[in-house]
Amino acid sequence: MELRLTQDGTPTLFHPGYGEAYHPRQGALLQARRLYLEKTLTHLHPAPRVLEVGFGLGVNFRVALESALLRGVRLSYLAVEREPLPRELLAQIPLPLPRAEEVFADLLRAWPIPSFQGPWGELRVLFLDVREAVLPSCWATAVYLDPFSPKANPEAWSLPVLLKLRKSLKRGGRLATYSAQGAFRRALREAGFAVHRVPGVGKREWTVGIARGAPPG
Ligand SMILES: C[S@@+](CC[C@H](N)C(=O)[O-])C[C@H]1O[C@@H](n2cnc3c(N)ncnc32)[C@H](O)[C@@H]1O
Repeated sequence: MELRLTQDGTPTLFHPGYGEAYHPRQGALLQARRLYLEKTLTHLHPAPRVLEVGFGLGVNFRVALESALLRGVRLSYLAVEREPLPRELLAQIPLPLPRAEEVFADLLRAWPIPSFQGPWGELRVLFLDVREAVLPSCWATAVYLDPFSPKANPEAWSLPVLLKLRKSLKRGGRLATYSAQGAFRRALREAGFAVHRVPGVGKREWTVGIARGAPPG
């Protein structure tokens, strides 16, 4: 895997199998903050419970953690990751988030580990394909849908996966993703989300889904 610098100065990796980087060239930290943290309102929630598809380099996790630590709220974070990266690679992705980096350094000493806790809250990682993962019902306040693109990684964007994510999300909870693909948006609607196009930063549009009513089925 090749290490690359994104335009906000934070690093990412290029995955040769998918032919894509883990983060957009505009900025790994920028996307984590402006899209995943803020568009799901995680940064305002008094007790955020985040469900993530694709833990990757843990950038989104560290951004959510820094926000929770600064606000003094407890974070519960459940990630699904079928290809965990080795700790030596993760250690090469430092972020300018001093509080979260302290916790992340402790996490790396134990990595890969399915459950990691501290006074800040809890991280659980299901080392599985999201299609096989059993997720808690009506649990999450936010979903970070962050696989590789629908073209390179289609199964992670499929209707069965979106239905599963909807069932795990509380009513009114928000799903955020960088993809604006039409087929994906239609499937998101079918899975029980009100679908909103939101202006992206460094990209024309992102997508936010708000969990409507009871999940279908
Ligand atoms: C774009 S990267 C995620 C970046 C990450 N969210 C971060 O903050 O650094 C996509 C991740 O999704 C994972 N992934 C792709 N398909 C998956 C699947 N079907 N089930 C679980 N994880 C998957 C990949 O292994 C990869 O780590």
